[in-house]
Amino acid sequence: MKISVIGCGYLGAVHAASMAEVGHEVYGLDVDSTRIATLGRGLAPFHEPGFDEVLSRNVDNGRLHFTTSYDDLDDVDVHFLALGTPQRDDGLGADLSYIDSALDALAPLLKARNGRTTLVVGKSTVPVGTARTIGERLAAIPGVKLVWNPEFLREGFAVEDTLRPDRLVYGVADTADAADEVELLDAVYAPLLALKIPRRVYNYESAELVKVSANSFLATKISFINAISELCDITGADVADVAEAIGMDDRIGRKFLRAGIGFGGGCLPKDLRGLISRAGELGAVDSFAFLRDIDAINTGRREYVVRLARRLLDGELDGRRIAILGAAFKPDTDDVRDSPALDIALKLYSEGARVKVTDPVALGNVRKRYPALHAEESVEDAVRNADLVLLLTEWPEYKQLDPTVLRELASDAKIVDGRNVLDLPAWRAAGWHVEALGRS
Ligand code: UDX
Repeated sequence: MKISVIGCGYLGAVHAASMAEVGHEVYGLDVDSTRIATLGRGLAPFHEPGFDEVLSRNVDNGRLHFTTSYDDLDDVDVHFLALGTPQRDDGLGADLSYIDSALDALAPLLKARNGRTTLVVGKSTVPVGTARTIGERLAAIPGVKLVWNPEFLREGFAVEDTLRPDRLVYGVADTADAADEVELLDAVYAPLLALKIPRRVYNYESAELVKVSANSFLATKISFINAISELCDITGADVADVAEAIGMDDRIGRKFLRAGIGFGGGCLPKDLRGLISRAGELGAVDSFAFLRDIDAINTGRREYVVRLARRLLDGELDGRRIAILGAAFKPDTDDVRDSPALDIALKLYSEGARVKVTDPVALGNVRKRYPALHAEESVEDAVRNADLVLLLTEWPEYKQLDPTVLRELASDAKIVDGRNVLDLPAWRAAGWHVEALGRS
């Protein structure tokens, strides 16, 4: 099939390449000509395991094209909307202007198809109620149908999650009258459906809510265990033990109970705040007050680490040398959006600390967005002469670090394990004072 993916940010670029990988002819469109030129050469503009191969293979075999011009999309049957919906500057809600501009540009092409069925598929995360408004606008054009099909991919597993998602959710205007659009989207996803991936057809509102509910629930799990972690610090309990044992109850589950410095990235914080905001607009303020606490517990973790650092440095951050291991919001990505690690780095820097940050892949983004922070290519250079080391992103290579070697480089052997991944006895045996969050 011939499909387009409008918006080639992280989600759109991965979706475009993955759809080409399963055999479709795909046109990825973005207004950012530099990005389109890079993608068109088969080069990934961000770090994502496995993406480079899928991208370059499909650019080379001629199934995947990138363009800045809507004229190239005139005989496309299925248009995916993968535009960003960033948090608005004026509050918690989402900025839908990129989707609006894309629809303005797309509408003349849809009209020109003279009633031939065309599917528009929204993948962006939007406040509940958005799809119906867009659907009503598109319904004025004969032959055009809108499906809202939320995306659940995780960074670091983006290609895998796109090609083998846990579920496919289709949001439609009326579940009793959606045979055409379901059939068309089933045809796009036929290779995934052949793998027996569950597919559900709901109304627009349910589909929209599935996405933000999932991310807000995951955020809730993390803040819950982080609150428990604080009690562990006070009482001497071990949060890893508590998480392990409660996770053995299937109703709770083991995942997303890793205590530490909390969640960040482009999705969890934004979706949580978006849900709070939309619930407020819809009159459900009180029932969603707890999500504000989930957010506050999360950002409070960052302050918690700053306080811990101050205490370990005898109450004075000014002029003290601090090495930060990890800048990305989680491993296997170079994404530094709302990174807890960098937020902590900036807070320490603003209190006068001499902060050095290292990361295996995200340093380019650190230099671009946070020029005030000193970026170091290697762990050794970051740790050399440090008064305190903070491990803030759990890159696998950091778990393998040799505490004896680093002991020789640091000025003072003090480390905070912000992600609870270090072998505490081994580090302590090598002479380090180790503080792990929620573990004694
Ligand atoms: C998330 C959702 O998982 C995904 O389904 C959705 O489509 C997009 O948002 P992502 O932002 O890539 O994906 O990251 P995720 O793996 O969910 O981690 C989010 C944050 O939570 C990271 O900062 C991570 O370090 C943190 N986290 C995760 C914890 O602090 N503890 C945990 O137990 C799990």
